[in-house]
Amino acid sequence: MIDQRKLPTREIYVRCKTAAEVARAIKSMVIRGAPAIGVAAAMGIAIGMRDSAASGTQKFATEFFKTCDMMAATRPTAVNLFWAIERMKRAFAAGAEAGEGVEELKARLDREAAAIHDEDVANCRAMGAFGAEVVPAEARILTHCNAGALATAGYGTALGVIRGAVEAGKHVAVFADETRPFLQGARLTAWELVRDGIDTTVITDNMAGSLMQQGRVNFVVVGADRIAANGDTANKIGTYSVAVLAREHAIPFYVAAPLSTIDLKTPDGGQIPIEERNVREVTHVGASQVAPDGARVWNPAFDVTPHALIAGIITERGVFRAPYTESLRRAFEPPC
Ligand code: MRU
Repeated sequence: MIDQRKLPTREIYVRCKTAAEVARAIKSMVIRGAPAIGVAAAMGIAIGMRDSAASGTQKFATEFFKTCDMMAATRPTAVNLFWAIERMKRAFAAGAEAGEGVEELKARLDREAAAIHDEDVANCRAMGAFGAEVVPAEARILTHCNAGALATAGYGTALGVIRGAVEAGKHVAVFADETRPFLQGARLTAWELVRDGIDTTVITDNMAGSLMQQGRVNFVVVGADRIAANGDTANKIGTYSVAVLAREHAIPFYVAAPLSTIDLKTPDGGQIPIEERNVREVTHVGASQVAPDGARVWNPAFDVTPHALIAGIITERGVFRAPYTESLRRAFEPPC
């Protein structure tokens, strides 16, 4: 996997050979972004089990569940992680029920992880096509954090919508919020968009209000880490502020996310676990200290945008609108 901590100045790849190495990569943000975390966890489980020396299915099962627990302990907010682990468990259960031996189970887990990866790319492309329809023909789009190819198996969710709009022939200019403290916007979103030749302007987070006040933004699209049953959406810290600003300036605020990010078991945003990260991310920018020793620090990695501020949720099944409790439930019904 590409080491996202090193971008944009260095393009370094990390080779993970064990499940523990994959878990460490997720925890330390070598790889990040909700769908990418899910795909990495599934592949980590498959790699870990491929190397298992267990000869009997019982021992293999014990190792499998231990590996799943290790992956689940990496990051708490992005529900795609738990969704992917559940899928791997269901695949395992189907194999066990069919009486498969260790080698067959290994192959089944490999296939499931590959399917999770491939489906994520297809979902992002579908989101891009649906999302392109709601993007203005002359679009000046603000996005927050990185919800791009780096954060998924490819193409992206919010950046997938931007790519879809460009492919549909719309004129698109993008403002990328820097996204303190980890700088996913400045480092990763700008890196992806510049490589694609898409007009990109980086701003610090505190410039978004002024930019909107000057009429220079007409569309906002962000990704999500977990969407509750009522549409409340957890995403990178600062997303809520952008949504409030967008409402004040009557700018449509969209969320783009696959169904694997929607958590119908969580009724509203108040129930979403919010990860708190190391204070050093706030006290330092890179190696430079920017806050004095002794100051207390608060570093939540995510915030929750209430559903009332969201114009629509763009998924691989189409764009869902309020009331979200009904529309999101319907999103999971099999297409007729
Ligand atoms: O802490 P991160 O970088 O993993 O947070 C990522 C985000 O908040 C993204 O916006 C979200 O996961 C959507 S990625 C398609």
